[in-house]
Amino acid sequence: MRQSTGLEGFRFQHQALPDLNLSEVNPQVDFLGWHLRVPILISSMTGGTDEALRINANLARAAQVVGVAMAVGSQRVAIQDPSCWDSFRVVREAAPDIVLFGNLGAVQLNYGLGAADVRELVQGLGADGVFLHLNPLQEAIQEEGDTNFRGLLNKIGEVTRSVTFPVLVKEVGAGINPALAVKLARQGVAAIDVSGAGGTSWAQIEGLRASASGRKRLGTVFRDWGIPTVDALLACRRRLPEYPLIASGGIRNGLEVAKALGLGADLVGMAGPLLKAARESVDAVVELLESLSWELRIAMFASGAGDVGALRRDGRLQPILR
Ligand SMILES: Cc1cc2nc3c(=O)[nH]c(=O)nc-3n(C[C@H](O)[C@H](O)[C@H](O)COP(=O)(O)O)c2cc1C
Repeated sequence: MRQSTGLEGFRFQHQALPDLNLSEVNPQVDFLGWHLRVPILISSMTGGTDEALRINANLARAAQVVGVAMAVGSQRVAIQDPSCWDSFRVVREAAPDIVLFGNLGAVQLNYGLGAADVRELVQGLGADGVFLHLNPLQEAIQEEGDTNFRGLLNKIGEVTRSVTFPVLVKEVGAGINPALAVKLARQGVAAIDVSGAGGTSWAQIEGLRASASGRKRLGTVFRDWGIPTVDALLACRRRLPEYPLIASGGIRNGLEVAKALGLGADLVGMAGPLLKAARESVDAVVELLESLSWELRIAMFASGAGDVGALRRDGRLQPILR
C-alpha cells in the first residue's frame, strides 16, 4: 500500500443548518502580508527548457485569473545557463499581480552559491520572495546528486539576514519535522512548507530515471520514505502555534485543501496535478484551480465555516476513530 497523506483520517462535522449564505462564504486569506483570493500555492515545479516556458506561462496565466500564489521550479539552471532565464521571466510577464516566489536548492549554498545569487534570482524573476528547498533523499538517489548538507542551517540563516525579501523553506515531498521547523524559524525563515509524504515521490521518480540497477532499486526501497503531510503539519503547528505554515504533498482536491487549512495550514500547495493540467493548456489549469476553490467553499459551507479562520475553530474537523 502506498504512503498516504493522512488526510483520509479526518472528516468535517457536517452542519445541517449552516447559518450562512453559500455565495458569501469567503476563502480569502492574508499570507505574510499579501492578500490571496484563494489560499492555494502552485508549488515549485519547473523552468529552464522550452517546454518549461510553456508550462510556466500556462501556470502563471491561470494563477493571475484565479488569484492564487505561485512558485517557480529550481532556478539553478538559470545561473548555469543564462539562456534559461526566458522560461522564468515569462511568469511575471503573464501574471503581473500574483504573489510569486523563486526557488533554489538550499544545498547549493554548499556548492558555491550565496545570498548575492539568491538576490539576483529573486530580482530577475520579479518575485516577492524565495523558497529554499531541502531534498536530501532526492540528492542521495540522484546520479551525481549534491549530497553535502553539512552546516546548511547557519547558511540559510545568513541568507535570511542578508536579503530584504522573505526566505521560505520547503521540502520536496518527504516532510519537515517539528524540531527542524523550530530551528529554521529561529534562523529568520519567514514560512515553512512542510511538503510531506503522500503525493509526488521523488525517490520513485529518481529511481525510474536512473540507469544503474542499484539506483533503480533505491527508488523502490525509499518510495514511501518521509513524514506524511498531516503528521508534519500537526507536529509543526503544535511547536509553532502562530508561525506561517504551508501544507503540501499529496493534496488532490478542494476538500483536502479545507482539511489542511482546518489542521492548521495558512496556505496549501499543490504540484503534480497542476503540472499535468499545465502541459495541456491555461484553461485546464484554470479549471482545476476553480474546481479546488469551489470544493473548498462547499466544504466550508457544509461545515458551517464562513471564513478560513472558522475552519480551525470549534472542533469542526474531527479524527475518524475506527
Ligand atoms: C515535476 C515536478 C518538479 C518539481 N520541482 C521542484 C523544484 O524544482 N523545487 C522544489 O522545491 N520542489 C519541486 N517539486 C516538489 C513540489 O514543489 C512539491 O513539494 C511536491 O511535489 C509535493 O507536492 P505534490 O504531491 O502536490 O506534487 C517538484 C514537483 C514536481 C511534480
